[in-house]
Amino acid sequence: MTDMALKIAILGAGQAGARHITGFLAVEHAQIAAVADTDADLARREAGRSGATPFQDWRTALDAAAELDAVVVALPHHLHAEAACMAAERGLHVLMEKPMGSSLAEGRRIEEACRTAGVVLMICFVHRFRDEAIQAKAWIEAGHIGVPVNCMETIASPRGSHLGSWINSPDLSGGGVLMYTGVHAMDRLLWLVDAPLRDVHASIRTLTAGSRVEEAVTALLTFDNGAMATLNVTGPTYPAGGTSWRSEIYGTEGVIRIRARQSVEIAGNSLAQRIEVDDTSTRDGENYNFKRQAEEFVQAVWDGEVSPIPGRTGLAVLEACQRIYDRGIHGPLFALR
Ligand SMILES: NC(=O)c1ccc[n+]([C@@H]2O[C@H](COP(=O)([O-])OP(=O)(O)OC[C@H]3O[C@@H](n4cnc5c(N)ncnc54)[C@H](O)[C@@H]3O)[C@@H](O)[C@H]2O)c1
Repeated sequence: MTDMALKIAILGAGQAGARHITGFLAVEHAQIAAVADTDADLARREAGRSGATPFQDWRTALDAAAELDAVVVALPHHLHAEAACMAAERGLHVLMEKPMGSSLAEGRRIEEACRTAGVVLMICFVHRFRDEAIQAKAWIEAGHIGVPVNCMETIASPRGSHLGSWINSPDLSGGGVLMYTGVHAMDRLLWLVDAPLRDVHASIRTLTAGSRVEEAVTALLTFDNGAMATLNVTGPTYPAGGTSWRSEIYGTEGVIRIRARQSVEIAGNSLAQRIEVDDTSTRDGENYNFKRQAEEFVQAVWDGEVSPIPGRTGLAVLEACQRIYDRGIHGPLFALR
C-alpha cells in the first residue's frame, strides 16, 4: 500500500452516491476529487463534504480524467454502461453500483471494457460487507451446515418518495423492484449457495395500477449443485416496517438464519450460536458496509489484486434477473414490456 491517495470521482450524488462519499471519507489512501450530479445544489453540497470539485454532468467530470484514478458509478441504471465504459477507456478503475447495467447486454459491455482496459471493476453488492453476511459465509465455508440444499430469501423495501422517479420508467431502470432491490438478495443467494443457477420459475406482478415496472416477484430457483431456493421480492407501497430482509439457508448439517441488520444464527450438528448485530458496527456508523466496500476497492487498486466482487459476479446476477423476466409468468397488471 502506498502513501498516496486514490483520486476518485463520484458520478451521481443521490442516495447511493452520498453513502459512497461517507464511506470513502473514512478510508485511508482515498480522496474524493470530483462529485458530479445534474442537481447543482446537491453536487455542490456533497462535494463540499469532501473538498472535491463539483460538476453538473458525469461526462464533464470525466473530462478531468487526468486528475483521477477511479470512478464510482452511482447514476440511474440507463447511464451505467456509458459512464463505466468511458471511464475504463480513460484508464480509470470502476466501482460500479448494482445492477451492473440496465440489461445483461450492457453488463457485458462494461465487463469487456474494463477487462480490455486492464482496470479494476468491482460491483457494489455492499451488503456482503455487513457483519451478519460475513458471519454466515464463514460458517458455511467452515462446513457448519454441511451442503446448502434449500434456501429462502425474502426482501421487502417500501417504494416511496425517497426513490428517484426514474425507477418507475422501464427505459431508465431496466426493471422494477427486482433490479433495484432484488439484485442484492439474488447476489446473496448465488454467493452463499456458491453454484451457478440452473432452472428458473417465477411469477411477476405490479401492485399498483400506475406502476410501469414490477413491484413483486416470487421465484423458484435450482442450482447446479442440486440446491433449491425461493426468492421473494416485494416493493410494498406502505412505509410501515421499512426494509425487511431475511435469509434462511438449510444445509445437510444445519440451518443459518439471517435477519439483516439484526441477527444471524446457526443451528447445526456441530455448532449452535446466535449473534445480535446492530446497524452501525460500532463507531463506523450506519454506512459501515460502504466504508468496508471502499477499503476493499482501494486495496484492490493499490495492491493490483483481483477485484473482490468482479464483473462476472454482476453478470451472474443480471443473467438471473433476465431469466426471471423472460421465463416468469407476468401478472395481469404487469406492463414492463
Ligand atoms: N447499494 C445500495 O445500497 C444502493 C442503494 C440505493 C441505490 N443504489 C444504486 O445506486 C444507483 C443510483 O441510485 P440512487 O437511489 O442513488 O438514485 P438517485 O436518483 O437518488 O441518485 C442518482 C443521481 O444521479 C443524478 N444524475 C442523473 N443524471 C445525471 C448525469 N447525467 N450526470 C450526473 N448526475 C446525474 C441524479 O440527479 C441523482 O441525484 C443505482 O444503480 C441504484 O440501484 C444502491
